[in-house]
Amino acid sequence: MCRPTAALCAVLSACLCAAHLCAAGTSQQLNHRPVIGVLAQENIPGDQFARGSSYIAASYVKYLEGAGARVVPIRINRTEEEYANTFSSINGLLLPGGDVDIQTSLFSRAARIFYRLALKANDARDYFPIWGTCQGFQQLSVLTANKNLLTLTDTKAVALPLTLTPAAQSSRLFRSFPKDLLQSLAEENITSNFHSWSLSMQNYSRNSKLKRFYKVLSTNDDGKKEFISTMEAYRYPFYAVQWHPEKSSYEWVNKTGMIHSTAAVAACFYTGSFFVSEAMKNQHHFSSPEEEERALIYNFSPVYRGAEAIFVQNYYFD
Ligand SMILES: *[C@@H]1O[C@H](CO)[C@@H](O)[C@H](O)[C@H]1NC(C)=O
Ligand SMILES: *[C@@H]1O[C@H](CO)[C@@H](O)[C@H](O)[C@H]1NC(C)=O
Ligand SMILES: *[C@@H]1O[C@H](CO)[C@@H](O)[C@H](O)[C@H]1NC(C)=O
Ligand SMILES: *[C@@H]1O[C@H](CO)[C@@H](O)[C@H](O)[C@H]1NC(C)=O
Repeated sequence: MCRPTAALCAVLSACLCAAHLCAAGTSQQLNHRPVIGVLAQENIPGDQFARGSSYIAASYVKYLEGAGARVVPIRINRTEEEYANTFSSINGLLLPGGDVDIQTSLFSRAARIFYRLALKANDARDYFPIWGTCQGFQQLSVLTANKNLLTLTDTKAVALPLTLTPAAQSSRLFRSFPKDLLQSLAEENITSNFHSWSLSMQNYSRNSKLKRFYKVLSTNDDGKKEFISTMEAYRYPFYAVQWHPEKSSYEWVNKTGMIHSTAAVAACFYTGSFFVSEAMKNQHHFSSPEEEERALIYNFSPVYRGAEAIFVQNYYFD
């Protein structure tokens, strides 16, 4: 047991933290050269621009770069050993949106391997954050519940205001936001929703694994079902948004639900910046500068897919 005494003053804050969340970051130096892994996924069937077997939408890369991180692509269909090696070299993981099977795809396989490594690391006070956007949100819910509890909603191309829960104000994610931005998020239709599946409040509330793991920060509804739009884990630095902050700054398809207002662009920056600040609490690094250089996404070039493409630029991988 951890018993605070005068000599233990320095570790007092760590003792008092029920969560592992305050373990790192408070006492350690911040890592101002964070590298974040973005998970690739199987190519969209019929993608005429595709090269190789997997892709990463460039908007997620820009999202992190615009907030002060560098990106390493995490390729699908690699060995567990390679993933463990990558895990110990990067400072956080982003699970992007997309459209693959979140139980059987190679994307979901890699996500599961990293999720388990992240649980273990955080349990051992090695602070490792994960961010899930849209499909990434859904993937995290499947990994935590160990089953798919999603339901179809009418949310394929719509901008919505967040219905913030009482927990939002004091949440790690939203408490770092400027007040006027939080107000815009709550009052204006500025969060882009492009999903067919959602985690309903009903299924969340009935599943003890999900309920114990995640704190609901915002909800939305499609007129029939109330679903979770933002959540963060209680005891782990895991964050998930069902909406798309990155599209407001970096995607330009002219479609209902796409919002480029100043507040929407600010929401893109503040969510990205929050996650990057979490990654700065992690001290993983590559074994050498050369190994880091070989892993970074700068070794690949994004492909322009046209003004009306759902992803304006993609990175492709073998
Ligand atoms: C995954 O890797 C195996 C072994 O290298 C290969 O046979 C298979 O085609 C790969 N699958 C995909 C979808 O790339
Ligand atoms: C709850 O999850 C099940 C899958 O286990 C799904 O079939 C059902 O539609 C969901 N219901 C709601 C209201 O979300
Ligand atoms: C704005 O959000 C509301 C939900 O609060 C929704 O009913 C409405 O359709 C949205 N309007 C637009 C133009 O997206
Ligand atoms: C965007 O879409 C709207 C509505 O369909 C249309 O009126 C407008 O001309 C489009 N703008 C561009 C630049 O394509």
